[in-house]
Amino acid sequence: MKNNILEQLEKQALEGFDKELSQERHKYEALSTCSRIGILTSGGDAPGMNALIRGIARTALYYDLRVFGIQRGFHGLSHGHIEELKARDVSDTLQRGGTFLMSARSESFMTEKGMNKTLAIIEAFNLDCIFCIGGEGTWKGAYSLAKQGVPVMVLPATIDNDIGASDYSIGFDTAVNTAVSAVDKLRDTVSSHERCSVVEVMGRNSGHIAMAVGLAGGAEIVMVPEHPLDLMNDVIGNILSSRNRGKRHYIVVLAEGCGKAQELAKTIEEYTGIESRGTNLGYVQRGGSPSARDRTLASLMGVHSVRTLLEGRLNRAIILKEGVVKDIPLEEAIHIEKVISDDLSKQADILAF
Ligand code: F6P
Repeated sequence: MKNNILEQLEKQALEGFDKELSQERHKYEALSTCSRIGILTSGGDAPGMNALIRGIARTALYYDLRVFGIQRGFHGLSHGHIEELKARDVSDTLQRGGTFLMSARSESFMTEKGMNKTLAIIEAFNLDCIFCIGGEGTWKGAYSLAKQGVPVMVLPATIDNDIGASDYSIGFDTAVNTAVSAVDKLRDTVSSHERCSVVEVMGRNSGHIAMAVGLAGGAEIVMVPEHPLDLMNDVIGNILSSRNRGKRHYIVVLAEGCGKAQELAKTIEEYTGIESRGTNLGYVQRGGSPSARDRTLASLMGVHSVRTLLEGRLNRAIILKEGVVKDIPLEEAIHIEKVISDDLSKQADILAF
């Protein structure tokens, strides 16, 4: 008797859930004919890429699409490294750094031969849209596919946070936190020895990581490619003036696009007489479990990207603008440049006084 009641309740609950699910699925039926999507991660990996894959895959499966994981980015796409993903295949990935689909930087994909191979694979697997996760290079690769008539969706993931169209790129928060905790540790030793520490952070040609690390780590000087500093006035002069104001140790955060930590440390020591050491934080910045911010935003961007497809908008870039996840045309997105304002650099100076 008790078991019968439980079975009845279970049946009712399942029916209720299934009804809601089919209503949700029905909503989009008239707007989109897509039924099979591919997902790839390309370029430098970034913490939160797995959360993006999971967000896209789970949402697509919820809306009854079939999902295919493309391994090794565009390289894998042109070589048919593709496997179907089910909901449980993305379990236990949200908290993991890196990308379980793996990544690659592919040059052959951009050649005519590579592109033709890629188009043939997309047709063979009958993929209606390719979801491309990565930074600038990935967005450009996706745009080349779109120009060949392949529908794409792009999502921003790079620790560099240098995608102009989006206020935020997945991975940045985790990378900055990793670098800041390294700067905190360096400060302990640098203050014990009254030294200057030059800390080189990643960012390719951009200074967003350096600026964020400098602000959060309380650096005396932040060097970013967007606002080149004069070695004598702005670096040496600043350190000497800091010493005159009573400072006994110094942190210089150097974006990789501005030079090498060891070399700058040597120059500072030569000119100021202050013992200096250079540290390149390197690839540790790319690893680690994604922060809550990266996991949350990645998940919401994943949902938004699939809904964008289902609503019939193709070739879109998923972005964060003023705190809201949105989509804009990819063609427009790839031409937007990202800046670091003069005033942000000024504020970093003020805070180091
Ligand atoms: O774009 C992310 C990034 O980590 C940059 O900060 C860095 O310049 C570059 O990738 C390093 O690339 P690779 O993995 O090819 O050495």
